[in-house]
Amino acid sequence: MIAITGASGHLGKATLEFLVTQTSPETLVALVRDPEKVTDLSAKGIQVRKGDYDDSATLVSSLAGVDKLVLISGSTIGEERIRQHTTVIEAAKEAGVKHVFYTSSPSPSANALFGAAIDHFHTENVLKESGLTYTIFRNNLYLDILPMVIGDAAQSGKLYYPAGDGKVSFVLRADIAEGLAKALTTDGHENQVYEIGAPTAWSFGDIAEALSHNGKPVAYIDIPNSAYEAELLKHLPAPIATLYAGMAEGMKQNDFNKPDITLEKLLGRTPVSLGEFLKNLA
Ligand SMILES: NC(=O)c1ccc[n+]([C@@H]2O[C@H](COP(=O)([O-])OP(=O)(O)OC[C@H]3O[C@@H](n4cnc5c(N)ncnc54)[C@H](OP(=O)(O)O)[C@@H]3O)[C@@H](O)[C@H]2O)c1
Repeated sequence: MIAITGASGHLGKATLEFLVTQTSPETLVALVRDPEKVTDLSAKGIQVRKGDYDDSATLVSSLAGVDKLVLISGSTIGEERIRQHTTVIEAAKEAGVKHVFYTSSPSPSANALFGAAIDHFHTENVLKESGLTYTIFRNNLYLDILPMVIGDAAQSGKLYYPAGDGKVSFVLRADIAEGLAKALTTDGHENQVYEIGAPTAWSFGDIAEALSHNGKPVAYIDIPNSAYEAELLKHLPAPIATLYAGMAEGMKQNDFNKPDITLEKLLGRTPVSLGEFLKNLA
């Protein structure tokens, strides 16, 4: 039996939607805080059970009979997130789960510029030290978040961002979901750490050039990180602004520059590229 936490979210739900095409729905478990958010999954015959990262006892009972668990990283930041992930890993062990897949990020480190990668560093260590079989998907940045980053650049002709010449192996979230479904249903992924992203990487100059193919020429203007963070602080709570500014600085330092063919091999095809994604946005 395969269970997925965060099944009400984009990645968890998409992974179950791929899995249900490959395996019988009664062997799949969607773990959620609110079952009302996944009536589409229960309509497909997928079991829906309660799974809150803050509720250890319920997690243990909901994981009964589960062999493989996908722990989708949570939405909080810092100590709280590490504690929640640890709760899920410990509950999995107590419930007799054999194999845990975890959605991490590139370049996890105790000193990462991108704050979320600090949480991933600690969670990866908790999982590796748990004695459970693990597979770590170090998911690169989603292409899906690019529209938020690009803003109105296609219309204004100016793409402002503080990433220098740093490159990112952007990846479509749906491709990660399909890759996860493939890895969950094939052998050979035990105790592996995978860089999950494109087999190439793109700079913000490349993004501006790709946007230019849609019509109006777009220029990339590299701005100071401090100016970017100051602008974010006008619209967002400080911890979120700091997280996004750290992500941009991580891009500049090439923390997300991780070309890799693992996802391509899992999918049996080339993942969706930056150019294809941006063309479809036009
Ligand atoms: N690589 C990237 O570019 C990128 C971008 C954004 C996020 N991420 C990370 O990747 C994860 C998956 O991405 P996504 O697009 O699927 O995110 P998403 O759509 O925001 O889904 C997050 C899921 O986590 C669940 N969740 C959060 N806290 C929880 C808790 N305490 N207990 C139980 N469930 C909890 C949410 O449940 P509810 O529906 O109940 O809230 C939701 O189902 C994110 O959570 C985040 O850690 C990566």
